[in-house]
Amino acid sequence: MIRMNENYLKLQASYLFAQIAQRVNAYQAQNPQQKIIRLGIGDVTRALPAACIAAFHRAVEEMANDATFRGYGPEQGYEFLREKIAVHDFQARGADISADEVFISDGAKCDTGNFQELFAQDIRIAIPDPVYPVYIDTNVMAGRTATWRNGRYEGVVYLESTEANDYIPQLPQENVDLIYLCFPNNPTGRTITKEQLRAWVEYARAHRALILYDAAYVEFIRDDELPQSIYEIEGAQEVAVEFRSFSKTAGFTGTRCAYTVVPRRCQVYDAQGNRHSLHALWDRRQSTKFNGVSYPVQRAAEAVFSPEGKVQVRALSDYYLTNARLIRETMAKLGFACVGGEHAPYVWIKTGMDSWAFFDLLLHKAGVVCTPGVGFGSCGEGYVRLSAFNSHENVREALQRISHALAHS
Ligand code: MLT
Repeated sequence: MIRMNENYLKLQASYLFAQIAQRVNAYQAQNPQQKIIRLGIGDVTRALPAACIAAFHRAVEEMANDATFRGYGPEQGYEFLREKIAVHDFQARGADISADEVFISDGAKCDTGNFQELFAQDIRIAIPDPVYPVYIDTNVMAGRTATWRNGRYEGVVYLESTEANDYIPQLPQENVDLIYLCFPNNPTGRTITKEQLRAWVEYARAHRALILYDAAYVEFIRDDELPQSIYEIEGAQEVAVEFRSFSKTAGFTGTRCAYTVVPRRCQVYDAQGNRHSLHALWDRRQSTKFNGVSYPVQRAAEAVFSPEGKVQVRALSDYYLTNARLIRETMAKLGFACVGGEHAPYVWIKTGMDSWAFFDLLLHKAGVVCTPGVGFGSCGEGYVRLSAFNSHENVREALQRISHALAHS
């Protein structure tokens, strides 16, 4: 008898964005004339930067010729891309990261989901609430949580990010071994200061814990004082792994390219307390289960670091930030308390209503898709997230429709 992984039975409904898509599709089927504006999942809408497209084309041409054709690439990624990342994203900001500590992948979703495989079953995990649901769901699948009760999984330390703490979680009172952090935060759009981040690094060092730092939205930071990488904090190389993505940075959601930094100095421990290299573990995992990102995609990603690429990527994120500002200003004028939208493409809106009810209200009365806050954790109840990833025209129209719908509801 083929038996199932019963941990899957603990999972709540379907994956958040699949659940939203089902509701939106059902509504669209009943209202085929309605033009739906999607400010739900953070999926980019603008074309890839011209520098990336040119590099992509050149690489495809290389694949068309026996002399320049490439088969399997290195599982860790091509040196040309790893080197550019180390220099431009880290060394340029004083973070001592080298190319061989960068692992190229096909998405931060996969990497943040897969990374937990490297750890023991009975470690104590701390996960922000609200946050990107992949962190908790993948730990549930792996059997690292008990059952679901009152909106939460037992056995997990939730790091509450609420109005009361300005959406920056406090350090846990108890011992935890694995800490997920995400800044700029998905879904709240909040950023963390160097001082605040330093406290987390010190906690991890004191407790021999590890931080999984998701910086997928770093491109949207406009204040140079804010940390862009956790490795800007002294000592973080020993206790932190960082995830980044070209998805939101350069419009690669459909093209797929991301990377994870695992410093050589990062240690994990066996049951006897002996140290092992986390870098060696991830390298072993990736070379066994992953065969790399395609050559043309890596060439396209490399072009992000060219002088033209940098200008074009900045223009892309500026475009979405203009939307984010407009969303935040409009929702604030409508009387809602909002955070985010300044150094992040998401605006977190306190609706004072059940979040799925507000989702349904916007969908049915305005034809606008948002993301219900409770999908990111129980602290998200009463909130929704609006994403800035759409055209200026659509965002303006969505906000007009929302204003109208709320005035008449
Ligand atoms: C989101 O909307 O939270 C993200 O787009 C999801 C993702 O990056 O996988």
